Amino acid sequence: AESWVIMVTAQTPTNIAVIKYWGKRDEKLILPVNDSISVTLDPVHLCTTTTVAVSPSFAQDRMWLNGKEISLSGGRYQNCLREIRARACDVEDKERGIKISKKDWEKLHVHIASYNNFPTAAGLASSAAGFACLVFALAKLMNAKEDHSELSAIARQGSGSACRSLFGGFVKWKMGKVEDGSDSLAVQVVDEKHWDDLVIIIAVVSSRQKETSSTTGMRETVETSLLLQHRAKEIVPKRIVQMEESIKNRNFASFAHLTCADSNQFHAVCMDTCPPIFYMNDTSHRIISCVEKWNRSVGTPQVAYTFDAGPNAVLIAHNRKAAAQLLQKLLFYFPPNSDTELNSYVLGDKSILK
Ligand code: PMV
Repeated sequence: AESWVIMVTAQTPTNIAVIKYWGKRDEKLILPVNDSISVTLDPVHLCTTTTVAVSPSFAQDRMWLNGKEISLSGGRYQNCLREIRARACDVEDKERGIKISKKDWEKLHVHIASYNNFPTAAGLASSAAGFACLVFALAKLMNAKEDHSELSAIARQGSGSACRSLFGGFVKWKMGKVEDGSDSLAVQVVDEKHWDDLVIIIAVVSSRQKETSSTTGMRETVETSLLLQHRAKEIVPKRIVQMEESIKNRNFASFAHLTCADSNQFHAVCMDTCPPIFYMNDTSHRIISCVEKWNRSVGTPQVAYTFDAGPNAVLIAHNRKAAAQLLQKLLFYFPPNSDTELNSYVLGDKSILK
């Protein structure tokens, strides 16, 4: 029997939404009720590394996450595998005399090993980096010719927010119009060099797994919140336009205002759900007050805050000076290992790590 292996390794950072995605209009295809915009973090912190391998000796598709085997039977994984397989092309390794034809991919099996360098499912968007990385690595392995936007529409079917991790910089996920979801994909707004004095600090308030998964939370919100309908139809479309303008013009005051307002509205929509969903805790609220007070006292915003489906604060500082002042304040008001649970800070941006 033949005994060769071909491997591809990819690394993908996570992304943090500044205009939030919350609510699906189609749960199976993962189509959202509004556009969203995110910033992709640097690939050093909060990233996923995935190796995919193919060999004629593999009897079935298998996957290991952080060293532990997990089931691939879920629809999300199957969607990604099926969609990339359907786009597989001929692969040739002349040196080793290996030839895989387009048709062979239907019968060949893959092994996938994926590592997160941060806690999984703690509201730190691990699924975003994970599915983006999986789709990208599989596409490389199978020599799929699709561009990053086309691949994003496949990653979307693993986890919605994953589609935005196929690009660096600031990224927009266009909700799309057509029923099959083919136009619900990500496009880059600006690349990572455009606004490289921003510094992102994540205050890990709790690394425990979140109580309500985003899938369940979104479903309940769509079914019960009138505020969500108003948000999706009337508020977000205008905010998307304003946010793109702020990013293109590097207008931090406007960027910070929109980012904070949208995070707060997302959590208001969660509260408007029946029964209400609470993702933030007392420490999160105290961090908001601290940042608001500081921004107000200086007169122009120094830091923007945003929270996803968990209590951890993502803080975006205008520049390194503001970031240094922010860290000082956080360490003073939220000392590590106090009763606030706040015990680690993740630093990240394109510039501070150079
Ligand atoms: O893609 P999901 O199912 O992990 O949902 C992500 C939802 C938020 O992180 C709260 C918002 C967003 O746009 O990323």
